[in-house]
Amino acid sequence: MRDSEFEFIRSLVYERSRISLGPDKRELVNARLGKRLRATNLATLEDYCQFLRSPDAEQELEDLIDVMSTNHTFFFREIAHFDFLRQRAIPEAKARPDSHRRFNVWSAASSSGEEAYSIAITLLEEIPDWSWQIVGTDISHRILVKARAATYKEDAVSKLPADVVRKHFQKGFGPMEGHYRVRQNLRDRVSFHQLNLLKGEPPKGDLYEVIFCRNVMIYFDRPTQEELVARLTRHIVPGGYLFVGHAESLTNISHKLELVKPAIYRRPLNG
Ligand SMILES: C[S@@+](CC[C@H](N)C(=O)[O-])C[C@H]1O[C@@H](n2cnc3c(N)ncnc32)[C@H](O)[C@@H]1O
Repeated sequence: MRDSEFEFIRSLVYERSRISLGPDKRELVNARLGKRLRATNLATLEDYCQFLRSPDAEQELEDLIDVMSTNHTFFFREIAHFDFLRQRAIPEAKARPDSHRRFNVWSAASSSGEEAYSIAITLLEEIPDWSWQIVGTDISHRILVKARAATYKEDAVSKLPADVVRKHFQKGFGPMEGHYRVRQNLRDRVSFHQLNLLKGEPPKGDLYEVIFCRNVMIYFDRPTQEELVARLTRHIVPGGYLFVGHAESLTNISHKLELVKPAIYRRPLNG
């Protein structure tokens, strides 16, 4: 890959998604572009870059962002957040006289849905008869198709306790052998929407008791992180929480949240 091609792709991806691909990502970018060359039947990177400059490239631009984003995720990833939900965030909501027995959560950058369904399992176990909804959003259309299908390979559920799998997943038969689908009662409470975190507001423009925004900020530069945290803060109920990935920290950016525990921040009651 020529320097000019890497720079072009890098700035295009940044402009569209704010994912910042540093020089250390060059090999990764090259490998992922190989997939797009095959999919578009273009022979060289030069042809591909030229195509991206054409007016017909809108769909390809989306596919490019898709292939550049890392969708790795799994059920109950970073379990401390789910323990905190059970042990602190939900009991606090229960104790609030004005809670209206409502507890909405936004899984921002939800990827293929494992995070959103893990939250749903937790809420179903803790507050089954409350009104709650999980909204999952991601920039990638492709990954959201997977999230909505809610169907996962056996590997994805194999580390979950057997009773959790029995209770919350349907085992596939015939052509679906080796797959597990999240049960309907959970799927009914989870919806997925395409959203670029740096541009739009969450679908219902709502306030959330908790926002999970994990393992996505790591791809953004500092000004982008700052802008994103300010945007997310406006969507947290006063006293509600923002969970970030454990490899992410808000230490170097300015924000209005209180640090509660590593990777857990709270919007002040009067903030
Ligand atoms: C590594 S996954 C994290 C999934 C989940 N939150 C977790 O922690 O397991 C990162 C996700 O962020 C999404 N993403 C990247 N840039 C985004 C943006 N600007 N807006 C919304 N989602 C974005 C990617 O498509 C990907 O699915």
